[in-house]
Amino acid sequence: MSSNREDIERAAAALKRGELVAFPTETVYGLGADARSPEALRKLYEVKGRPVNHPVIVHLGSTDWIERWAMPEPRAARLAEQYWPGPLTLILNRRPETPDQVTGGQDTVGLRMPNHPLALELLKEFGDGLAAPSANRFGRVSPTTAEHVRQDLGDDIQHILDGGPCQVGVESTIVDLSGPTARVLRPGAITESELQAHLQGSSESENREIRAPGTLKSHYAPKAKAELLSTERLNSRMQELLNKGVQVAVWSRQKPEEKGSFRWKRAETDPVAYTRNLYSTLRELDELGAEVILIERPPKKEAWLAALDRLQRASYSTPT
Ligand code: TXA
Ligand code: MG
Repeated sequence: MSSNREDIERAAAALKRGELVAFPTETVYGLGADARSPEALRKLYEVKGRPVNHPVIVHLGSTDWIERWAMPEPRAARLAEQYWPGPLTLILNRRPETPDQVTGGQDTVGLRMPNHPLALELLKEFGDGLAAPSANRFGRVSPTTAEHVRQDLGDDIQHILDGGPCQVGVESTIVDLSGPTARVLRPGAITESELQAHLQGSSESENREIRAPGTLKSHYAPKAKAELLSTERLNSRMQELLNKGVQVAVWSRQKPEEKGSFRWKRAETDPVAYTRNLYSTLRELDELGAEVILIERPPKKEAWLAALDRLQRASYSTPT
């Protein structure tokens, strides 16, 4: 059931009282808290089970709100004009009054304006920034439906807005503009090449060094053990596991011809569709009760980079 105007007003009022509200964005569902309330932020970290020195992204209802949180930055204004509302987070030098709880005690703050009608309505009704990490427990697969949020956090939060399944399916691209060289810290739907094209021609031309380092290596993990394998390796690994009597689920473009009993999920060949379904597929495969999930590695092309990054984190414990 989709949330309506009344739900939004109730949710905004709850946020003003310092309560938490889960809401849809175009990327994944977020767990929102008043970004200026130390008490609300404390609750947020507690429910997520997240270390307090991890910064959270402040979600904005308008590009005009940037200056309430960050120091002026011409590259930010350009990128916001081009991509907001949309799946892009800007890391900027913070204003002195921006609370330490959202910055993790750093001098920078992450800002983004999400592209989802419910999120934007909620932000406008609330009137200021909402801190919103993905609405899952720390280290688990991010939620892309309201039902996923209910399963993970339903016992701890009163308000979950339902805006249907997320269209992008993985978290926003994060670009750090706090120094002279722009750097992609997390790949997402907006690619490094697109960002470079928009930053070129600005007085800042050092953007060649944009790169995508991982911060925490194991993240977004399903409960089953996930292995990310080349197409060539997939069949032999599968036979190895089946011979040992291991329950296997396979996520690949073509159904393996191996003998034995296993669950199979067809992988999309289009990167946008694949990425949109990535987290829900990991959950689905997990719920089949497989001990090991074998995932065929997607192509090494820029359009697949966001998906590949999440799969690498989900399969960190892979021995091969
Ligand atoms: O798509 C998204 O960005 C989703 C939706 C809900 O908007 N949000 C999200 O938030 O992914 P979260 O908290 O799960 O991830 C935020 C990441 C952190 O892991 C952190 O690395 C980075 O953003 N981040 C936030 N503020 C930062 C800062 N000041 N400096 C460096 N990294 C920062
Ligand atoms: Mg997250």
